[in-house]
Amino acid sequence: MSKLRLHPVVTIDGESSTGKTVLSLHLAKELGFNFLNSGALYRTLAYLKKQHPRQSLDMQLELLKKKLHISIEGSKAVIYIGGLNVSDALMDSEIAVLASQVATDVDVRTGLVPIQQSFCKAPGLIAEGRDMGAVIFPDADLKIYFTAPLELRVSRRYMQLKESGHKPDIITLTEQLQQRDARDRTRDCSPLQKPDGAVEFDTSGGDLEVNKARILQLVQTYLAK
Ligand code: DC
Repeated sequence: MSKLRLHPVVTIDGESSTGKTVLSLHLAKELGFNFLNSGALYRTLAYLKKQHPRQSLDMQLELLKKKLHISIEGSKAVIYIGGLNVSDALMDSEIAVLASQVATDVDVRTGLVPIQQSFCKAPGLIAEGRDMGAVIFPDADLKIYFTAPLELRVSRRYMQLKESGHKPDIITLTEQLQQRDARDRTRDCSPLQKPDGAVEFDTSGGDLEVNKARILQLVQTYLAK
């Protein structure tokens, strides 16, 4: 893919609950960039599938194209479909599992490509997910791959769910996370992988504030080159 754009794109990929969303959001805010939380698109399709099982994929993609809005509000990404805030519903564990299943469908992934690429606008983009660097923005200026040990990822997910009013069970959560990662890694179409040339970023080394400072410095250093 030739590089035709003038504004920078930074991709952040990695397994579930490695801290991608919170740190990507921080970067987008600090740099004044657009933000693509691609997992939210898969979660939205899963949510629509649950709400309207008979709705066709084409209709759902059309709805996403026209009505999906990701808004940065304070330190959170808030997802709207039309005027409706669906952020809490999308966080549900059942939706997370369904999203990972929906994400194995080639038609879903193909249909989401142009929607995701449309987030690439001036002054720049932070794109977060599983295949951002490998498939959606292969010519990204900087590709980062997040890692963290399973126990830490489970405890992060647990706290996140509790804070959003859910009542997670730690054993179920661990199993779901492992299954989801395995499915994301082994699916035929665009499996989760460390993109060629990506910089590895281990988020277990420090607390949130330390990681925010580290990632911002990493990105600013690259963009200044
Ligand atoms: O990042 P998340 O947990 O919100 O993502 C939910 C699911 O969506 C995840 O299990 C895999 C899928 N996904 C994907 O396949 N490709 C992406 N770029 C982002 C998410």
